[in-house]
Amino acid sequence: MTEKPAPPMSLLAELTHRCPLQCPYCSNPLALEPRANELTTAQWIDILDQAADLGVLQVHFSGGEPMARPDLPELVRHAVGRGLYTNLITSGVLMTPASFAALVEAGLDHVQLSFQDIETANAEHVGGMKGAQAKKMAAAEMVVADGMPLTLNFVIYRENVGRVAQMIDAAARMGARRVEIAHTQYYGWGLRNRDALMPTREQVEQATRAVEAARTQYAGRLSIDYVTPDYYADRPKPCMGGWGRRFVNVSPSGRVLPCHAAESIPGVKIPDVRDATLGAIWDEAPLFTMFRGTDWMPAPCRTCDQREKDWGGCRCQALALAGDAAATDPVCERAPAHDRVTAAIAALPVTPPPFVYRRYGNGADAD
Ligand code: SF4
Ligand code: FES
Repeated sequence: MTEKPAPPMSLLAELTHRCPLQCPYCSNPLALEPRANELTTAQWIDILDQAADLGVLQVHFSGGEPMARPDLPELVRHAVGRGLYTNLITSGVLMTPASFAALVEAGLDHVQLSFQDIETANAEHVGGMKGAQAKKMAAAEMVVADGMPLTLNFVIYRENVGRVAQMIDAAARMGARRVEIAHTQYYGWGLRNRDALMPTREQVEQATRAVEAARTQYAGRLSIDYVTPDYYADRPKPCMGGWGRRFVNVSPSGRVLPCHAAESIPGVKIPDVRDATLGAIWDEAPLFTMFRGTDWMPAPCRTCDQREKDWGGCRCQALALAGDAAATDPVCERAPAHDRVTAAIAALPVTPPPFVYRRYGNGADAD
């Protein structure tokens, strides 16, 4: 009999795919969930109860834009009541004094606020929403004024990679406790825009030096997380901390996934909260067990000394680049399909093509 896995540490509650922004690097699936398919408040409350019973410690409310759900304060209050640490992952553009006050009153523990850039014109060009930057700044002020811990998240791509130092300075000025400088990951919609988004190796090296300098400058005052770009690494990251090891993700319509992109894995039934409990899905659903641990690994991972550190990298990236979710992540220089990554870098156009924007509903159009 196989051993029961340790419970997940975190629940990623994707309340909705609705979002007023249109970021070309969006890592949500190509097909977004319509509002009519979203879980009800009662269903989410049941999921929070199941997560707490299972031993989950933290819940990340995300989306889309989770503040598009009017029941967010009620869900936060329930999660807090069940002893879960609550984090809101938001773009901030829907945050008003009243909506934030309701979250404070509900007991929200932490806000993670995303920025498209520190330079307003480009941020709004990338997010596709005029006036968004001022709303984000106002949201940051509200959170800091309340004393709630604030993390800023900057997604890095070709057009803004030269402004990493300014982003970190701004985070310090705004009173954030932590800033994430996160290079774009090329999954979901982001893969469509890879040629427009991916920086050059020289740009990445410059950004890395800026992060190192800022870590010295802000030591003890601001914690700086740096998510390096996969394509320029020799080894992959342990995506999601390993498949089915730390995170359980519930989609807006109730599909239960080991990561937000896992719906793309072919040939396996996607479990649903309406059909089984979170605990049964975590322990036994084939989607969770198929890449858990190291038994599934092909060569060269199977005998590699890194296999319990990076858990073979990212399954969704292996599928997207090698056409096989069970392949070694092509980012790894030992992977048989590593040439897909080197070819993508070599083929980077000198002038980036226009973005293909993400629009809620369907479809896309160019810049
Ligand atoms: Fe990681 Fe596999 Fe590469 Fe080893 S061979 S570093 S386990 S991806
Ligand atoms: Fe799915 Fe990495 S995004 S495993």
